[in-house]
Amino acid sequence: MRIIKTKDYEEMSRKAANIIAAQVIAKPDCVLGLATGSTPIGTYKNLVAKYEAGDLDFSEVKTVNLDEYKGLTRENDQSYYYFMHDNLFNHVNIDLANTNLPDGTKEDADAECAAYEALIKSFGGADLQLLGLGHNGHIGFNEPDSHFPVATHCVDLQERTIEANKRFFASIDDVPKQAYTMGIGTIMSAKKILIVVSGEDKADTVAKAFFGPVTPEVPASILQLHADVVLVADEAALSKIPQ
Ligand code: F6R
Repeated sequence: MRIIKTKDYEEMSRKAANIIAAQVIAKPDCVLGLATGSTPIGTYKNLVAKYEAGDLDFSEVKTVNLDEYKGLTRENDQSYYYFMHDNLFNHVNIDLANTNLPDGTKEDADAECAAYEALIKSFGGADLQLLGLGHNGHIGFNEPDSHFPVATHCVDLQERTIEANKRFFASIDDVPKQAYTMGIGTIMSAKKILIVVSGEDKADTVAKAFFGPVTPEVPASILQLHADVVLVADEAALSKIPQ
């Protein structure tokens, strides 16, 4: 694993965007695996700026997102579909027909997850998968568990997550209780993995995930077994790694 240490969130975002840009320039029809959450927002802003400067062309790029809430429509501003359009797709020349997320409106979880997994397989996996890191070590919606879930699957969200999300919805009944997520095997099938982490509050998790034992109790720890991982993290997030 290669670690790129940055002084702050802005530099992390710039350097992560540079790695994604290099991928798109080297292979204009590459498959990008994308993530939502607060950490990659700055990375997407930098990619949009590179596009606006005329330095990046997304016209042949295909994308696959990590996850989506089950039951949310695309118009819902809490859906990951909405997030991706708002933060990236609407601002670059990507062909929307080439962008893919699990479809949260599909009721038949097994069918939707199997179809999404088959789509990613048909691409031969992502050329580059962008990841964020959860405080508990989760990647995608793969939460700490007794095993590593392999393929795209439906997860029951933890009570804590539902509680934390309720501020974004009119009532707790509107908060999604399930999500569709790539599995650990799906994520590991990417040729290259880029994980972005920022902030002191993730320092313990970074130390555990990348310097502790590989265990499904810390799902991101599996990334230690991937041949091409780049961790771009700021000083605060790296403050607890062994020197
Ligand atoms: C997002 C995702 C999540 C986030 C993680 C970190 O698609 O699957 O695993 O990457 O929860 O989120 P932030 O960046 O908001 O701390």
